[in-house]
Amino acid sequence: MSGWGDMAILKVARLGHPILRRVADPVEPGLIKSPDIQRLIDDMFDTMAEYGGVGLAAPQVHSPVQLLVTEDIMDPDADDELLAERSVVINPKITFLTVEEISYFEGCLSVPDLRGRVPRIRRIRLQGFDRDGNRIDREVEGFPAVVYQHEVDHLNGIVFLDRMQDFATLSYLQEFDRYWSASAGPVAD
Ligand code: NI
Repeated sequence: MSGWGDMAILKVARLGHPILRRVADPVEPGLIKSPDIQRLIDDMFDTMAEYGGVGLAAPQVHSPVQLLVTEDIMDPDADDELLAERSVVINPKITFLTVEEISYFEGCLSVPDLRGRVPRIRRIRLQGFDRDGNRIDREVEGFPAVVYQHEVDHLNGIVFLDRMQDFATLSYLQEFDRYWSASAGPVAD
């Protein structure tokens, strides 16, 4: 329906906007295929691509609903290996499958120019619905699990800064590139 003739780049809410601190409302499953929700999904993909994000949650574009999108997620530790294909997850639920943690430097389109290392759970169960209303129920591990935890946090009013245990790694982008990026691994968004 939405070709690039009517693509739309949405405005991204930045830290301080109250919508980023609200718990988002579930999408009624019967409305998943509605034009409003399908259009929101298309616009979120356009917006994420425009700003170079790996993921985007609906509250970040001022829609307080339980919906997230992710881009193709490449392996940060092995060049160009696709770990997870682009996805839409509606009403997501995460269950931790381990206590083992991993951490990467994360960034966020709503927290521009900052990067910081965030501990996350290494393996999760992800449940929800896709854009056609089909149930999602799968295990996700490693870097894609980090991305999903970051995005689901947005749906609960949480940003990555809240998850940092130590602000010593918190860096502006320019300093991140200069002092941290070689050893730091990639950036989630
Ligand atoms: Ni974010």
